[in-house]
Amino acid sequence: MYNNSQLPADLPYSQACENNKKPILSVIKPAFARCKRVLEVGSGTGQHAVYFASELPHLLWQCSDQPAYLPDLQRRLQHQAASNLPAALPLDIRQSDWSEPAADGVFSANTLHIMAWPVVQRFFQRLDSLAARQAELCIYGPFNYQGEFTSQSNHQFHLSLQQRDPAMGIRDQEAIVELASAIGFQLQADHSMPANNRLLHFSR
Ligand SMILES: C[S@@+](CC[C@H](N)C(=O)[O-])C[C@H]1O[C@@H](n2cnc3c(N)ncnc32)[C@H](O)[C@@H]1O
Repeated sequence: MYNNSQLPADLPYSQACENNKKPILSVIKPAFARCKRVLEVGSGTGQHAVYFASELPHLLWQCSDQPAYLPDLQRRLQHQAASNLPAALPLDIRQSDWSEPAADGVFSANTLHIMAWPVVQRFFQRLDSLAARQAELCIYGPFNYQGEFTSQSNHQFHLSLQQRDPAMGIRDQEAIVELASAIGFQLQADHSMPANNRLLHFSR
């Protein structure tokens, strides 16, 4: 187990991660029950990783993120070390350098609305080889349905993303299901999560 009180005060911190980690765990625990190695794309602060690794001791949780995020991410992993939490690896979905074995589980939270749409398409192209032939895929975040926001707060969030960068924005669930299907991942469940988020569970 880890102890938050011993963490350096300057480590990047997300209150949202603390709020959503338990509801997410309740979905990914059964989804990843048979997985041995889960690759997380866009680990961010690493708060999800340290919690999920401690709660899912049967598997190895492999963090990754764009190189610029790695020093702080790695600092958290060192402070909250666990034997199933190896050093985070550099992974920018736009690049193609990756020599790690394919993972039988892939997790990504709050990344698809940050990536520009061509990068989202690339995410699924890369996923074809990042993931094993038989694998579970869990994607957490806000999604639209039939082009509609599911809440006023999601609409506001989308507008704030687009102010930051017009290429960012909440994606249509149907478009994500189609990209996943093109590489053999079928939607198993679309879970409603707190704060108008969803957790999409796919298998292939
Ligand atoms: C909003 S943060 C989410 C972080 C964390 N998963 C969470 O839920 O708090 C978005 C993450 O997507 C990652 N990301 C954005 N573009 C990426 C890319 N091209 N390749 C890999 N990761 C990317 C960022 O580096 C960042 O860690």
